[in-house]
Amino acid sequence: MKFNISTTPMQELKADVEIVIVIDGNLKHPTVKDRKLLKKAGFSGAQNEVYHLVEKKRLYVGAESLKGSSIRPAAASAIRALTGKKGFKRLKIATYVSHPRCSASIRAMVEGLVLGGYTFTEYKSKKSKCPVKTVEISLEGYEAHEISIETAARAVHHGEIVAASTNYTRNIVNTPPDDFYPESMVKKAKKLAKELGLGCKVLDVKALKKEKMNALLAVGRASRHEPKVIHLSYKPKNPKKVISLVGKGLTYDSGGLSLKPGDFMVTMKADKSGASAVIGMMKAVAEMGLDVEVHGFLGMVENMIGGDAYKPDDVLKAKNGKTIEVRNTDAEGRLVLADVLCYAQQEVKADYLFDFATLTGACVVGVGHYTSGVMGFSEELKTTVRDQAKIAGELVTPLDFNDYLKKTLKSEIADICNISNTRYGGAITAGLFLSEFIDDEHKEKWAHVDIAGPAFVEHVWGENPSGASGAGVRMMVRLMESLSRESSH
Ligand code: BES
Ligand code: ZN
Ligand code: ZN
Repeated sequence: MKFNISTTPMQELKADVEIVIVIDGNLKHPTVKDRKLLKKAGFSGAQNEVYHLVEKKRLYVGAESLKGSSIRPAAASAIRALTGKKGFKRLKIATYVSHPRCSASIRAMVEGLVLGGYTFTEYKSKKSKCPVKTVEISLEGYEAHEISIETAARAVHHGEIVAASTNYTRNIVNTPPDDFYPESMVKKAKKLAKELGLGCKVLDVKALKKEKMNALLAVGRASRHEPKVIHLSYKPKNPKKVISLVGKGLTYDSGGLSLKPGDFMVTMKADKSGASAVIGMMKAVAEMGLDVEVHGFLGMVENMIGGDAYKPDDVLKAKNGKTIEVRNTDAEGRLVLADVLCYAQQEVKADYLFDFATLTGACVVGVGHYTSGVMGFSEELKTTVRDQAKIAGELVTPLDFNDYLKKTLKSEIADICNISNTRYGGAITAGLFLSEFIDDEHKEKWAHVDIAGPAFVEHVWGENPSGASGAGVRMMVRLMESLSRESSH
């Protein structure tokens, strides 16, 4: 999808279809040219309600307000209505700006179109795709708010980058486990590094042994695909901040010997969502040319069964020397992250350290499918993640640590257990487990984001399709954009 932005009035722009956004059910607004027809059809302009007047070449969609959070899903719903149809190559749309000089809703509109136009058709014989090739945006606005073409163009550009990077992440997550294993991510990372001039270091089993990443190695041992850790780096001159991003990349999580029940195993190709989000973030920050140094660490492993599998009762020694009693091989993500977090802290002295993981079913039970949980020791950092996520169109809620839950991870035989002794608070106990692998000097700089809920949802929601959503990408790109603007003092 290509975007062109101009000051050409809407009427003069040539297109196969125009998207008209009806704000707050206001069918009387001058942009709504088919009021009578719409009323007759029972169109009320409710959020995401769509009505396509094919003969008039207009597609109407409702949005509650001019806020980005309403415009984004509305634009997505509109373009989704065209998916699988033919003859809608050229689309045109006006701008919907809520405040003078504020381009947020323009960016949200572009994001909505790119995110809503996403389809994963790789494995379909009959491919039902989005037909739109070009989008003409007219600066002719819903309200007569002044906005410069430069500001608008920048909003369009950044919207395109972040949404395309999110779709890039979605493609990786949606790819079946027999076609996407640790080596596949190595290939992806190398290709991306070459295209964008990133650093790319790959650790194979030999290197992982040398680095004493025994917890990660144990998880991957029964798989025919060797585990890999990938370090991608983006280093602009004079960066404002240094950020490390760590991702859980379980290309499949069968549960290991603590085997998952059959119906819980379905969708576990999505257990690579954390690492897939991190590579998507790397792509976006590099394409935007942000003024922050960013390091992405991807822990790529497949958790399988077999004669060589790690077992409940095993004691593993993690990279930082701490010993872990394995009581459940399905709590494998934290073992992988423990080692990768240690490695990330060893390699880079960062101002911020974030990790992303589909870590616990408990997080989904606690906060639902659409929300991620953020954990850590810094209230300020947790709040920042939540606030930036909200602006970006993602939902995040803080889950606070406490010392009572910490005690539930005690082990009789080792330094810590990989599961807690209580059935409750599983998202937090997993976060507390990770905190054992964060050095004291990094405690306040670290936040853990459990994306188990939103990373993969089997129905359409807002601007997200059924399947992988690319959770984490938009929130973190926003956060890094804000750090890139901050002064270095
Ligand atoms: N990958 C799963 C978590 C998960 C579950 C993600 C559902 C997305 C949807 C993780 O490795 C896991 O199996 N966690 C266990 C932990 C338990 C054994 C303490 C879980 O959540 O049941
Ligand atoms: Zn698991
Ligand atoms: Zn897992």
